[in-house]
Amino acid sequence: MSREIIGVKTVDLRNFGRGNYRQIDDYAFGSGGMVIAAPQLKEALEAVTSEIGARPYVVYPSPQGALISQEIIESLSKQENVAIICGHYEGIDERFVEKYVDLEVSIGDCVLTGGEIPAMLIVDAMSRLVPGVVGKGKAVIEDSFYRGILDNPNYTRPAMWEGLEVPEVLTSGNEKEISRWRRREAVRRTLTRRPELVSRASVREYLSGVNVAVIAETENINLAGVSETCRAYDAGRPYIVANDREVRERMKELYPEAKIVGSVRKILERLDDDALTVKVSGTSRKNALHSLEAKRICLEHGGEVLFIFAENEEDFENFAGITSYLYDEESEIPMSMKIGIALDRFLGKR
Ligand code: ADE
Repeated sequence: MSREIIGVKTVDLRNFGRGNYRQIDDYAFGSGGMVIAAPQLKEALEAVTSEIGARPYVVYPSPQGALISQEIIESLSKQENVAIICGHYEGIDERFVEKYVDLEVSIGDCVLTGGEIPAMLIVDAMSRLVPGVVGKGKAVIEDSFYRGILDNPNYTRPAMWEGLEVPEVLTSGNEKEISRWRRREAVRRTLTRRPELVSRASVREYLSGVNVAVIAETENINLAGVSETCRAYDAGRPYIVANDREVRERMKELYPEAKIVGSVRKILERLDDDALTVKVSGTSRKNALHSLEAKRICLEHGGEVLFIFAENEEDFENFAGITSYLYDEESEIPMSMKIGIALDRFLGKR
């Protein structure tokens, strides 16, 4: 049954060839190989453009291109029409690339004989993002790379095979434990096999809870902005720590949406016993970790995390936890923006 969810059309470049042999390529200047000529490519593109009534986004697979990624695929899937130009042997005339190609993309550091297989790869990866192509929408979301974390291992029957047993938790029927195990395994694999992926991964779903606290000295922080940022990153209502009782009272009136407390200890009492505290500093300081390293530690921890910001960062000395910095140099960033940058670094997807 054809549901016509996606349409893929092939165009034979030979239809735009010259002479009896419908020639589309010619010898490369300065070397012996064959190169697909620019005028023929342009005619083919013009024919496609007039047929669909709009210029397609032009992709040229080549080993010289940017390395393909899920982000590239996602961006391509947002285009109304994509034309993929398959070169052969020495490729296509560079002037066509300059004038008409929107994206030159490589599928990996290996050389194929032509662009057909890369084109199939691109079509396949794009198509599974179209609703209805893959059975369950959830599967697409949970698959490898969807959030920048590798997939967990999967098993099926028989439960025992060649002396190897399926991990016990998977046959326990305990949904919560199973999903915790899957997340932990996915993280473990990512950290050991592809640690470089962590920089672009969204780790929110791999943490059991995210909390934000601001140690305030005055009531002058833009708490509406802070609250909105926390909501956007699924970090709940922010905690405000104010030592001074009068400041606390005024804040309670000004910011009913915040959870106002007198000390960090009061917050920790409400969190899991093993909650990880991350003190986020605007600038590099002694013993502070690069935010990427702190992100890796959060991911490894997997439990609840409390991100703490302070108007006066000397307050950080007063309690335990790791310290992370956002920038090497001193920067004057308003508190709400600093929280936005930090949450995006830790929880946002690159
Ligand atoms: N054409 C030939 N090799 C290629 C590669 N590695 N990626 C994309 N297109 C290609």
